[in-house]
Amino acid sequence: MIYFDNSATTKMSPAALTTYEEVVKSIWGNPSSLHRLGDRAHQLLEAARKQCADLLGVKPYELFFTSGGTESDNWAIKGTALAKREFGRHIITSSVEHAAVGNAVRSLEDLGYRITVLPVDKRGQVNPADLKHALDSDTILVSIMGVNNEIGAIQPIPEIGEILDNYPGVHFHVDNVQALGKGIWNQVYCPRVDLMSFSAHKFHAPRGIGLLYKKAGRSLRPLHDGGGQEKGLRSGTENLPAIAAMAKAMRLYLTDEPAKAAKQQAIKQRIVEYLQDKPGVTIFSPVAHDFAPHILCFSLAGIRGETLVHTLEAQDIFASTTSACSSRSGEESGTLHAMHVDDDLATSAIRLSFDEHNTLEEADQFISVFDKIYRHFAKVNHLGQEN
Ligand SMILES: Cc1ncc(COP(=O)(O)O)c(C=O)c1O
Repeated sequence: MIYFDNSATTKMSPAALTTYEEVVKSIWGNPSSLHRLGDRAHQLLEAARKQCADLLGVKPYELFFTSGGTESDNWAIKGTALAKREFGRHIITSSVEHAAVGNAVRSLEDLGYRITVLPVDKRGQVNPADLKHALDSDTILVSIMGVNNEIGAIQPIPEIGEILDNYPGVHFHVDNVQALGKGIWNQVYCPRVDLMSFSAHKFHAPRGIGLLYKKAGRSLRPLHDGGGQEKGLRSGTENLPAIAAMAKAMRLYLTDEPAKAAKQQAIKQRIVEYLQDKPGVTIFSPVAHDFAPHILCFSLAGIRGETLVHTLEAQDIFASTTSACSSRSGEESGTLHAMHVDDDLATSAIRLSFDEHNTLEEADQFISVFDKIYRHFAKVNHLGQEN
């Protein structure tokens, strides 16, 4: 089996699974309980928070455990809107955000907030000058992702941060769900960032757990009211086994990060080199400094993305149409649409997404399988050139 769908989810690491099981079995007290079973759970909770904070280079009290990227995005956006509603009602985002951001912002529009959606260029990137233009005295939040989940475009986060230095009251949220551990941290983080979303199942930890980074001093209203866990900001008994497994997985994931990222880039490069001159093929994720190493989105005109995904699956190769969460709904890619890619090409797109366990041999196997599909396609479509 070749698993090239790591941006949808990753396989849980054996070490994270062991941690998960051990905590389920032996540290089952509630971290809020006053007795020693609670103490033990609480200590583990805080140790996990500290480990994640150290790895991310932030303070433990700036990290909050959530149920994943979707909750972190919703909290960053709606929590800011509620906390800052006396100061303004204007939110700026981009046209290529994940639905967790796009739909959260849209729901605020219904509540009277004003939304500016920044366009992207042909490579799926926002222009910082457009942001500069859109900012006004009513702006309370800018939410721009670090790495686009469909094509891997890296957004100009440090440049945006620089612009926002002149707007100190504006919250800057970055959805970094796809950006961790890919050797591009200085491109997706800068000190001006106030809020960041992470999702553990993208780095070999369980699904349903994640993190929100909130810079100390920034105000955010809770969306989950209740018993006051997470310093009163995110109520609900903490999912300790998943949290401990996430901390373990994150440490392993970020070990040897440059070498792992280079390996993924090499896989991407090998496949891009094969694809790039093929008539009918369009590559949306170039091998470039401003594209993540682990995502490769391309179209073979005339074959629907879902058909290609199932054809590859029949050969035990697992890929996605552009975004796993929208693929079942059959919607075309929001990112390609925002890039003004023709509908036909957008519905033909598929996404390969790699992790550190993929190999160049797998890339070669993919090429050999795809080549057969392509030759058949070229013959049927009289594309002529094929060698
Ligand atoms: C960029 C981005 N943001 C948010 C999410 C949602 O994360 P989760 O699945 O943990 O809710 C995803 C998931 O694919 C994503 O790619």
